Amino acid sequence: MERTYLMIKPDGVQRNLIGEIVSRFEKKGFTLVAAKLTILSKETAETHYGEHKERPFFGELVDFITSGPVFAMVWQGGNVISTARTMMGATNPAEAAPGTIRGDFGVQVAMNVIHGSDSPESAAREISIFFNEEELSAYEKTVNKWV
Ligand code: PPS
Repeated sequence: MERTYLMIKPDGVQRNLIGEIVSRFEKKGFTLVAAKLTILSKETAETHYGEHKERPFFGELVDFITSGPVFAMVWQGGNVISTARTMMGATNPAEAAPGTIRGDFGVQVAMNVIHGSDSPESAAREISIFFNEEELSAYEKTVNKWV
């Protein structure tokens, strides 16, 4: 079963969007297998966003993501990596469709509410940055036979 790493960014936590966002993925039919509220160290943030370290906004991105708690999650389900990205909407909330998380709740690209892994390789890497194997609950919901 596929897994992805999703993270509600400091703006989403401050704006009380954790429940709304978790609810969307639950109602879709995905299974939450790990979650925690945590404040990222600069080192963890730089590791997580390492592929962007040459981008002009890298310093701003690291400052923002370490500015307050994030809600780190691992979700499981069929095609969860790409489907979660669809549910999140375009990176720039100004271009994100209504009905998506960023389309409904975001305004600017620097504070776009949520991060989601973009590939199986990214998901494996990002999950391992934030969670130990023991923190991932291996279980199937009986309700999932209906979705
Ligand atoms: S993507 O989806 O990787 O193609 O998006 P990209 O445009 O490359 O952006 C990568 C992440 O950087 C964030 N970002 C910014 N942060 C601060 N300031 C500016 N100007 C900015 N532009 C992009 C963007 O929200 C992406 O974060 P994640 O967490 O990966 O969605």
